[in-house]
Amino acid sequence: MVASILALYLSYLVLLRRSSKLREVRGPASPSWIFGNMLQLTLSQHYGEYEFEWLKKYGSVYRIKGFFGEDRLMVSDTAALQYMLNREHFVLGPSFGNAARLTYNNRNAFITERDHKRVRTPLNAGFTAAAVRSYIPIFERVAQILTEKFDDITSHSVGDISPLFGQATLAAVTEAVLGLTLNDLGDEYISTNLKLITMTANQSATQLLVDALLGWIPVPIRDLASRIPVEPFKFIHRAKYMSNEIGMKVIQNSKNAKNRGLEVNSGLYGDLVGNTGPTFSERDIADQTSLLLLAGQDTTANTLTFGFIELARNVEFQEQLRAEIHASLGSGDAKAYDSMPLLNAFIKEALRMYPAVAVSDRLAAEDAVLPLSEPIITSQGTQITEIPILKGQVVYLGTAQYQRSESRWGPDANEFNPSRWLKEGGALNGEGVSSYANLLTFFGGSRICLGWRFALLEMQIFICELVGKFHFSLPDEDHLNARCRYAFTLQPVLPDGKKAAFLQIKRVV
Ligand code: HEM
Repeated sequence: MVASILALYLSYLVLLRRSSKLREVRGPASPSWIFGNMLQLTLSQHYGEYEFEWLKKYGSVYRIKGFFGEDRLMVSDTAALQYMLNREHFVLGPSFGNAARLTYNNRNAFITERDHKRVRTPLNAGFTAAAVRSYIPIFERVAQILTEKFDDITSHSVGDISPLFGQATLAAVTEAVLGLTLNDLGDEYISTNLKLITMTANQSATQLLVDALLGWIPVPIRDLASRIPVEPFKFIHRAKYMSNEIGMKVIQNSKNAKNRGLEVNSGLYGDLVGNTGPTFSERDIADQTSLLLLAGQDTTANTLTFGFIELARNVEFQEQLRAEIHASLGSGDAKAYDSMPLLNAFIKEALRMYPAVAVSDRLAAEDAVLPLSEPIITSQGTQITEIPILKGQVVYLGTAQYQRSESRWGPDANEFNPSRWLKEGGALNGEGVSSYANLLTFFGGSRICLGWRFALLEMQIFICELVGKFHFSLPDEDHLNARCRYAFTLQPVLPDGKKAAFLQIKRVV
């Protein structure tokens, strides 16, 4: 009885979120009323095994089923993506919104909607081209530590590179933002951080369903529900509390140093203290800590991991890249890194094939008309160039699909081929989104990834250091190849689902 009432209520809510034009948009059949196409989208064995087929069959906009018969729209059309990147029209969707509200401190740059400019503007100062260049010594120091860890692997010949990149990217962002080392963060924070990342990398059908049900509940009630003292919630609140404490401590120490005329902590937080005021307080700075440490870590680490797996698959390209690195060694400034064609083609290709945020849900904040740059044919056989959608409609930004479209990137769009970036006229055919390299990997508009320049320079330095010194090849059968799985970000996992990526590593110089 209760189940029928709940099903009726959910169907009523679903009907409220449906425009008639949307129902005419073609898409795959749904294997289940409860899960729709969601398990195919998010829990497939290999990321994209359904999605990329749907892209080929239905084009750059198609309809999929969400939970409980709800219609959702998957979008990789350029004009529609540009429109959606504007978060005045589209706010965070139920899945990303819930996860972000649960994981990060309140009022951080990622969650805030109307308040975004106030919070984001002061943070931009730490991520301009000049600011990021000033982090070169940090990236180089961390790269040296990575070399020592890779040297340890060479004594066993095979090792898991994924946690090493995770620690390295955490070390770099911690020093740049907080002026602290990993040791300063403390063992409890480090192990909590690792557990949190492992937790988010392991989604299950039940979690997805709980997430979907929570999506129908108003935010304040949802926030209250997250206070229920069950182990996962207690753990996440503890993690948030710890990052907040760390942030507040850095702020307090920087303030004390400033008041006593002593040298202030060198990180971004040290610079922000003293520039606070009625619009951006010390509390606001501290609220960004969990976001900055997490957003700046796994995204970059996983991109590097996938990139190194591709290098191990393509030894010929790896050797050419190593030769370019050896020929450029010693220059060591940001301009020199930018003028290395193979290095940058390799990074762009890793970002194209393995965009950390491969798909992200958004919710229409108001009724809207989605413009299309490529017309689509509806199930009624008519051609349409725009799709009206109602407030509350869930729409996906299909980053990975945009970056695998054959009409845009050529018939080899599904292959890892850095040389596409070296072609005269560029890698892209036709119109693209106006972001870094016409990729959607960092999204765009006022919400473009805060740390995109940081991630690029960090990757350039780590790659030059490691590829310059080590040779990478695929592991033997005992250490099976990693596959790509989606869990909020793209993760390298072994066949048993454990996050890891083994490679054979040899010293070359
Ligand atoms: C390869 C590495 C990275 C990728 C692919 C990446 C990707 C993204 C994407 C797609 C978004 C937008 C998410 C959305 O609106 O739903 C985002 C936002 C963000 N990223 Fe990154 N990111 C990377 C590295 C970093 C680094 C290194 C940092 C910090 C040091 C960082 C900090 C942030 C922050 C603070 C936001 C929220 C920005 C806002 O809403 O105003 N990211 N990132």
